[in-house]
Amino acid sequence: MENSLGKLFTITSFGESHSRCVGIIIDGCPAGLPVSEEDIQREVDKRKPTSPIATTRAEEDKVEILSGIFNGHATGAPICLLIWNKDIDPSEYERIRFLPRPGHADYTADMKYGGFNDFRGGGRFSGRITATFVMAGAIAKKLLSVIDVEVLAHTVEIGGLKAQSKGLDEIRQANQDPLKCADPEAAKEMLKLIEQAKGEGDSVGGIIEGMALNVPVGLGEPVFDTLEGDLAKAFFAIPAVKGVEFGSGFAAAGKRGSENNDPFTISNGKIVTVTNNAGGILGGISNGMPIVVRVAVKPTSSIAKSQETVDMKKMQSASLEVKGRHDACIVPRAVPVVEAMIAVTLCDFAMRAGLIPEVIK
Ligand SMILES: Cc1cc2nc3c(=O)[nH]c(=O)nc-3n(C[C@H](O)[C@H](O)[C@H](O)COP(=O)(O)O)c2cc1C
Repeated sequence: MENSLGKLFTITSFGESHSRCVGIIIDGCPAGLPVSEEDIQREVDKRKPTSPIATTRAEEDKVEILSGIFNGHATGAPICLLIWNKDIDPSEYERIRFLPRPGHADYTADMKYGGFNDFRGGGRFSGRITATFVMAGAIAKKLLSVIDVEVLAHTVEIGGLKAQSKGLDEIRQANQDPLKCADPEAAKEMLKLIEQAKGEGDSVGGIIEGMALNVPVGLGEPVFDTLEGDLAKAFFAIPAVKGVEFGSGFAAAGKRGSENNDPFTISNGKIVTVTNNAGGILGGISNGMPIVVRVAVKPTSSIAKSQETVDMKKMQSASLEVKGRHDACIVPRAVPVVEAMIAVTLCDFAMRAGLIPEVIK
């Protein structure tokens, strides 16, 4: 297995949905960075279920700092952050132990780990482990603020319903919305759509847009550690992510070069581009324009509707209605996770480029 990410700013995730805890070890954080539990808690709280369409698992998700932070500052030693699992109910998972949920990781995990994996609540494959990514993201965001980089994410589509594009001020406020959408009118319709799907024992997916502002030119290490490549790798660690595109993305394939190229110009003595179809990345290297990425999240696989599966023990067909506590739409809860993965990746590249001081004073 591979549970670590990054070269200089490294994170190692541990824990399962129904074991005692989930946590993260962050190595490479420069000494002196001011960090409090509240800083990390604020980010983790953004991931909590907030709407009637979210899981009813009531976790307090209280962040505990175990090491690496002393007197309110990073010490330069590994930082260990932990959240205890409290609201655990494995009964449904015992019932469906040999009935793999279509669309979930039950079958592949069972095959790969010979049935020894902790299957309760999806174990390591649960969305719950993304709370640990968000804790690491909180530290990464603080480090990025030293070089004035800002990271944002918001919901732009749910169940095929698109939000109107909005300005930066509205996107910054999207966190106040239960669906993390910057367009309040669209959010109302999206909520109806999710409630309808849930009422039918079903689920919906959607798209999250992430961005990073004020990113210096030159982040990314071609040819194998390109900025796009490492960002995509970080996004695909988020369970339920099935697609990633940068800038004009898949639409670029249908455009002409003259439409898709971003002309260069000078603004306030700086070289910038007039448009940003490249999503802030050229040749795998940041070009100083905002990094813009869209992440596709599939509909939640655990649904109440009857589905066809197999009994892996009896080796015969079976039907399955998943009970238990599930998000009818994962998208709003994955928004802070997308932010976290952008922050963690950019932080690593900023350190590789020598842009973050070894000691923060
Ligand atoms: C924040 C978050 C919450 C999630 N909640 C659920 C859930 O309640 N039920 C479910 O079946 N899947 C949920 N997932 C997705 C599954 O963990 C994921 O679909 C599964 O591990 C299979 O991985 P894959 O979809 O990437 O192939 C969630 C994912 C995230 C990021």
